[in-house]
Amino acid sequence: MPHNNCYLPKDQFNYINMRVVLNNSCLVQPVEPTRNGPMSLTEFDQTGVLTHIPTVYFYRPSGTWLAQKDTIFTTLRTSLSRILVHFYPLAGRLRWLDGAHLVLECNGKGVQLIEAETDADLDILGDFTPSPHFHHLIHPINYKAPIEEIPLVIVQLTKFKCGGIALSYSISHAVVDGQSALHFIFEWANLARGDSLGNAPFLDRKLLRAGDPPSAQPCFEHKQFDPPPLLIGQSNCERERKKETTVAMLKLTKIQVEMLKNEANKTRPFNYGDRVFTRYEAIAAHIWRCACRARGHIYEQPTGLAICLDIRNRVQPPLPQKYFGNAIVDVVATGCSGDLVTRPSGYAASRIREAINKVSSEFVYSTLDYLKNLKDLSRLQDIHAMKANQGPFYGNPNLGVISWMELPLYGLDFGWGKEIFMGPGTHDCDGDSLILPGLDGDGFMVVALCLQAGCIEDFKRLFYEDI
Ligand code: COA
Repeated sequence: MPHNNCYLPKDQFNYINMRVVLNNSCLVQPVEPTRNGPMSLTEFDQTGVLTHIPTVYFYRPSGTWLAQKDTIFTTLRTSLSRILVHFYPLAGRLRWLDGAHLVLECNGKGVQLIEAETDADLDILGDFTPSPHFHHLIHPINYKAPIEEIPLVIVQLTKFKCGGIALSYSISHAVVDGQSALHFIFEWANLARGDSLGNAPFLDRKLLRAGDPPSAQPCFEHKQFDPPPLLIGQSNCERERKKETTVAMLKLTKIQVEMLKNEANKTRPFNYGDRVFTRYEAIAAHIWRCACRARGHIYEQPTGLAICLDIRNRVQPPLPQKYFGNAIVDVVATGCSGDLVTRPSGYAASRIREAINKVSSEFVYSTLDYLKNLKDLSRLQDIHAMKANQGPFYGNPNLGVISWMELPLYGLDFGWGKEIFMGPGTHDCDGDSLILPGLDGDGFMVVALCLQAGCIEDFKRLFYEDI
């Protein structure tokens, strides 16, 4: 396997008592020949193109684990080469077609697998709130490199002195969404454990195709691609974008979640019938209101809250559940900060519900047509592009609240037991937030939120005070 060092700007790092040394880096290719040639991407794949989704799984040493310590990397590498036979697009590379559209070149170049080691113990990471330490556990990606050289998947195994490990997993958002990313890694773990493939990925992306030709007059407005509001008095977002940010992981007990849901439903508009506000709508409304207050907005401040929807079951006919790609669309709920914070929480939840309700099958196909009609998708980046510091700014006065509530995140067992923690990797864009279920399955929810450092303490206080 060829050695690839082009994304390794440093071979060791130092950060407050944590030194990470890279021992090994290789490109892992499918163990059998796989289809070669271009694979069309959908319009949905081509927004937010230059980002990878980073997640990290942590494992503590156990009896079986210690016996396997020296073979972990080999186990990962051989099982990866086998799983890539089924998920071969991930071993390919992106390529610009005309500078404006991307194609996925299935060429088996491989996935990058890195082995690193640190003289720190897992305990240095405390409660695993994303911190600057995480930058050493997640391999940096140089987006300035030609796109056809950037692996679509980059995995870093970091061994801690105590015997624990971190497995970080960054996967290109141009190729998959969260559901597909998890499908891949769980199937990989199946093979690593010696089990067989559970469900093959559904690789045909033609199911999500714009009209041919696309309708010139989409029947919906696609305001989700408009630039989000700016802070009143500012002509661009540059000042806000440069501000230091910090992350908080805020736990909500099952009772607190129920209280938020009940509170929002007390003022649910009559025309919503029996469909009560969900936990997501209630929690997202609460985050939105607390952010407006913590940021000290004036009453008239317009604000947008971006929501990412899985459309597998929203289109008619529904997509195969193992559709492999980006089956997501973003929509934006809008409001005025003063209204959001002074009116009951059911108002914020109703703004969110209205945005979600827009997403019918017709809306999805109209979005595809709208995007197909755009000459240059490379300039159109959605909320997922925030991580690469490009595209629209969903920081102050805006937010993105992405639900991982229904994603099968937990129980990733490569043969040495389940993780003790999993979470988002680097997470440093103002306004970027995720709602995750608690690891124990006991109704807890965790809000992983990144805000400007100057607002975070007020946010935390309001977040619990206002329940
Ligand atoms: N029967 C009855 N109720 C059901 C049900 C079923 N089969 N399945 C789900 N529900 C209920 C749940 O109990 C839940 O309500 P609760 O949270 O109050 O308990 C509710 O229906 C969930 O419905 P859902 O349609 O998922 O709405 P939501 O408000 O929770 O979430 C979205 C809205 C847009 C976030 C969600 O639909 C979505 O698309 N999530 C995927 C996001 C994603 O892909 N993230 C990764 C991005 S890369």
